[in-house]
Amino acid sequence: MTEQRYTVLARKYRPQTFKEVLAQDGVSQTLENAISSKRIAHAYLFTGPRGVGKTTMARIFAKALNCAEGPTPKPCGKCDPCKEIARSSSIDVLEMDAATHTQVEKVREVIIETVGLATNRDRYKVFVIDEAHMLSTAAFNALLKTLEEPPPHVVFILATTEAGKIPATIASRCQRFRFRPVDVDTMTAHLGSLAKKEGMTVEADAIDVLARHAAGSLRDAVSLLDQAWTLSDKKVTAETIRQMFGLIPQEMMVGLGTALLERDVKALADRLSAALAEGIDPGQLVRDLREALHGVYLEKLGVGPAGERSWKKAAEGISAQGLGYLLARLNRIAEDLRLSDSPRNVLELGLFGCVHEAADLSAWVERLEALERRLASGAPAAPAEDGADSASEESEAPSGPAKPVAAVLRSVARSLKNRPIIAELLSHARPEVAGDGSWKLTFEREFDAEAVRKCLAEVQSALAAAVGRSVSVSVQVGKTQDCGPESAEIPAPDDAGPAEGVSEQDVASSGGPQASPLKKAEQILGGTVKFKKK
Ligand SMILES: Nc1ncnc2c1ncn2[C@@H]1O[C@H](COP(=O)(O)OP(=O)(O)OP(=O)(O)O)[C@@H](O)[C@H]1O
Ligand SMILES: [Mg+2]
Ligand SMILES: [Zn+2]
Repeated sequence: MTEQRYTVLARKYRPQTFKEVLAQDGVSQTLENAISSKRIAHAYLFTGPRGVGKTTMARIFAKALNCAEGPTPKPCGKCDPCKEIARSSSIDVLEMDAATHTQVEKVREVIIETVGLATNRDRYKVFVIDEAHMLSTAAFNALLKTLEEPPPHVVFILATTEAGKIPATIASRCQRFRFRPVDVDTMTAHLGSLAKKEGMTVEADAIDVLARHAAGSLRDAVSLLDQAWTLSDKKVTAETIRQMFGLIPQEMMVGLGTALLERDVKALADRLSAALAEGIDPGQLVRDLREALHGVYLEKLGVGPAGERSWKKAAEGISAQGLGYLLARLNRIAEDLRLSDSPRNVLELGLFGCVHEAADLSAWVERLEALERRLASGAPAAPAEDGADSASEESEAPSGPAKPVAAVLRSVARSLKNRPIIAELLSHARPEVAGDGSWKLTFEREFDAEAVRKCLAEVQSALAAAVGRSVSVSVQVGKTQDCGPESAEIPAPDDAGPAEGVSEQDVASSGGPQASPLKKAEQILGGTVKFKKK
């Protein structure tokens, strides 16, 4: 971005003491202790994302080492060494940027030539090497040699955003510090107070958007605010910030999201056409939507910071489970979009599908569970409708209540994409639903049961997303082999208007909003619906 032009504020607000560095308490504390106890290592490795305080911390540490009143964890900031280090003009504290071509060779020379020399005035010679992963092989070798026999007065601080690219021989000789991305709340508070000090007029929502989309980089957030203030007349609005991030206008997003959450297909279709007519990219639309709903989801679960204000109202009536289900669907749409040559089509089918399936799925699962309970209690299943007979030709012998539930479990397993082992274990488990609606999963081996127990919360929330309500799950060891054939066998619903006169052809006919409920149940459950012969 326009980094050079807009670093004024970021530089002006560079912390000068350990206390002022935000969100890196662990690092500050350890470095302060090292100074107090005079246990200074020869080399430090600062790793972490961009703009979170690595260079800042390196300078503060250098001041702590070389302050005229030090070494002290509270450098005075007034002596010559402190002032020079803050201005990067100290001859004993050398900052080098390994990413700058002209400096790559210099780094090697400087390391070789100056390391042996005594300090000019200060206690320590400190080399701060930024973007250290970019050092040339020759420079790494020179550095390694020095670290193998370090002169007593030399401290290296290597800073990098790519820890994996530092040779292990070097990394193993450094004391390592991991810098964290700055969290949204800290960032919001910092930006707010900075805007106030600078006399900027900034909408609260603008800071909200800024803090959420700066990906943890405080420098980026501050530079963007600086830039937005320069661009805007009188007031920085949320919309200005959204534009700078290339985000879709909020009004459009919330409109789409509301239609989706309220399952209003007509409004959804209108909003979608309007967005596409504006030239909005379907992939970005899905990603932005997912991002916003994800925030609301975490907040509803009680595990995240407050979601974006403008989404609060839109998401009022929906449960965390419902949102979880929507998010899983949006993930799938994003995935499908990547493979498709007709993004508009995928987008429409996907979003309309969310509306239809959400309604169908919970209705069906409720019905299946009621049936399970009835069968478990020994009551006969509802009789099949006459009209369904034609579909029952090759139906299997009735084989216990486990199957529809097994199909739900399989679809849950499929949804746990980033947990392949758990998904695999689940697909071999035997599920049962108890009278109170809780699920019991049986595994062949204790080892497998234990693995699933460890991720029980995740399994529960995936299952909750699938059935549209919260579910308690217990795990045990036992026989799993009485599951019978693959296809989900669902007795015809007792009160099912839709099942009446359903022929095999209807059942098998293709999807779309008008498809029969049975077809949709098949899609949802991932099996084949067959009717039992009485
Ligand atoms: N933890 C923090 N606390 C307070 N301000 C911060 C923090 N991190 C970054 N800043 C702000 O961002 C500016 C740049 O930070 P700094 O140069 O230390 O980041 P960095 O981690 O070295 O980034 P890079 O990896 O891009 O070199 C600082 O001058 C300050 O304004
Ligand atoms: Mg830096
Ligand atoms: Zn000082």
